[in-house]
Amino acid sequence: MKKIAVIGSNGQLGNCIRKIAPDFEHQYEFVFTDSSILDITNEEQVNDFFYDNKPDYCINASAYTAVDLAETEKDKAFAVNADGVAHLAQAAADHKATFIHVSTDYVFDGSTNLPYAEDDFTNPIGVYGESKRKGEELALEINPQTIILRTSWLYSEFNKNFVKTMLNLFSQKTELGIVADQFGQPTNANDLAEAIMDIIKSPVKAYGIFHFSNYPETTWFEFAKKIAEFSKSSIQLNPLTTEQYPTPAKRPVRSTMSLDKIEEVYKIEPKHWENSLEECVDILSQQ
Ligand SMILES: NC(=O)c1ccc[n+]([C@@H]2O[C@H](COP(=O)([O-])OP(=O)(O)OC[C@H]3O[C@@H](n4cnc5c(N)ncnc54)[C@H](OP(=O)(O)O)[C@@H]3O)[C@@H](O)[C@H]2O)c1
Repeated sequence: MKKIAVIGSNGQLGNCIRKIAPDFEHQYEFVFTDSSILDITNEEQVNDFFYDNKPDYCINASAYTAVDLAETEKDKAFAVNADGVAHLAQAAADHKATFIHVSTDYVFDGSTNLPYAEDDFTNPIGVYGESKRKGEELALEINPQTIILRTSWLYSEFNKNFVKTMLNLFSQKTELGIVADQFGQPTNANDLAEAIMDIIKSPVKAYGIFHFSNYPETTWFEFAKKIAEFSKSSIQLNPLTTEQYPTPAKRPVRSTMSLDKIEEVYKIEPKHWENSLEECVDILSQQ
């Protein structure tokens, strides 16, 4: 039976993979590890983990994801998102394992009006995006059997994310301002987990960078409005400009990614973001 190692499995994506793993128990053996067992910045720990477990696939669900904090914690962001990724890519290469790594729309500067293709010019405008781009470069350089999935605006019923923050604020406030001039594609991490398993199961063997998100593009404001609608909240939402909501890290104005390649190569059809959001809000409202 082929073995799949899931690194950083206490994060949003890691939890979503853990949730669907029982559906694949007759095809794959899963090994889940988190930062308390395996710190990817520690090369020796990574090598020992690969030696002990010998996975056929390594899914890297771990990352330094604090976009604003990264501006003042550059070394930490690069240690995890670049050096840590290199350790995993190298260990996977040494064991002839396929390395499935997750990256971000924030590798782009967001200054174009066309959806970004996989080979479009990257130009991150923040430290988090810079560190993720370095991780992409190192993974592709080190392990030819690397698949990078760039995703965007990730949320789920697990951990901290925009949807959970909104629901929490809706229960405390009567009015809220939300940025309405940044465009992107919200993505339910459960859909990303499914897409990763679809890739692993696929007879197609194609490596390199792929974009995966829900579609079409929207703004944080429209996203928040749908969260309010699906959760039946009566909150008053007001549109803000980026200037009215300053953050330590700059965000791309429009980081929408083209999803054509993953559809063509792996026959994966991303879902409409509103449908995926409704599923998540339903789950959260039952908790
Ligand atoms: N969240 C988004 O909006 C978003 C958008 C685009 C792309 N992405 C990408 O999608 C992927 C999954 O993101 P996510 O939202 O699921 O992340 P997440 O919820 O923040 O989880 C990241 C996980 O990585 C673990 N981790 C951090 N440093 C580690 C280390 N040195 N060794 C081992 N594990 C470590 C964390 O463990 P601890 O909690 O113990 O530190 C955490 O469980 C990441 O590659 C991220 O860059 C995310």
